[in-house]
Amino acid sequence: MTDTLSLLKLRRSVPPQFLTAPGPEGAQLDELLAIAARVPDHGKLAPWRFIVFKGEARNEAAEVVARVFRERNPQASEDQVEFERKRLTHAPVIVAVVSRAREHAKIPLWEQELSAGAVCMTMLIGAYAMGYAGSWLTNWFSFDREVLTEFGLDADERVAGFVHIGTPTAPISDRDRPVMADIVSYFGS
Ligand SMILES: Cc1cc2nc3c(=O)[nH]c(=O)nc-3n(C[C@H](O)[C@H](O)[C@H](O)COP(=O)(O)O)c2cc1C
Repeated sequence: MTDTLSLLKLRRSVPPQFLTAPGPEGAQLDELLAIAARVPDHGKLAPWRFIVFKGEARNEAAEVVARVFRERNPQASEDQVEFERKRLTHAPVIVAVVSRAREHAKIPLWEQELSAGAVCMTMLIGAYAMGYAGSWLTNWFSFDREVLTEFGLDADERVAGFVHIGTPTAPISDRDRPVMADIVSYFGS
């Protein structure tokens, strides 16, 4: 079995609270982003872009999440607010994959959005191949326009996912996988 097959067969997501430094930095982070941008992309539109959260800037982002969470949930306890604040501070590197799908004469929005999903998964696999671990998450704030505006998204852009990347602090056991017979059929008789 090739290394790629082993990785694909054994990989599983590691939640951010089980990720710590180091994460990809400098040239290695640039390489990972370039790998993630090498996905099928009908029409060569590059209907996605990246916003990297790392270092101290994660705390600024975390503050935005906490503030908007408090606005939306005035009854929330301080513990709940702190829980929300920490979401973007666990992993050393978090990449927001921004979908900028736009109406196009030939390329449906759906295909542009699928391409953004391919970016997220390629980035995750690339991170594992570099020896890191991670997870692809959205959380509520991926759908909160106030947070997205503070993060620098335009009104017609959306988050396909935050890819949290770092070094795992604990082994993660696998989860149930689909029964293949339930999801595979063969066309024809
Ligand atoms: C678009 C997208 C968004 C997701 N958002 C979340 C999320 O907000 N919270 C969460 O616990 N899991 C979320 N997940 C699920 C995790 O990424 C992952 O599938 C799960 O932890 C099991 O991962 P594994 O099958 O890679 O081990 C999301 C998955 C996708 C594809």
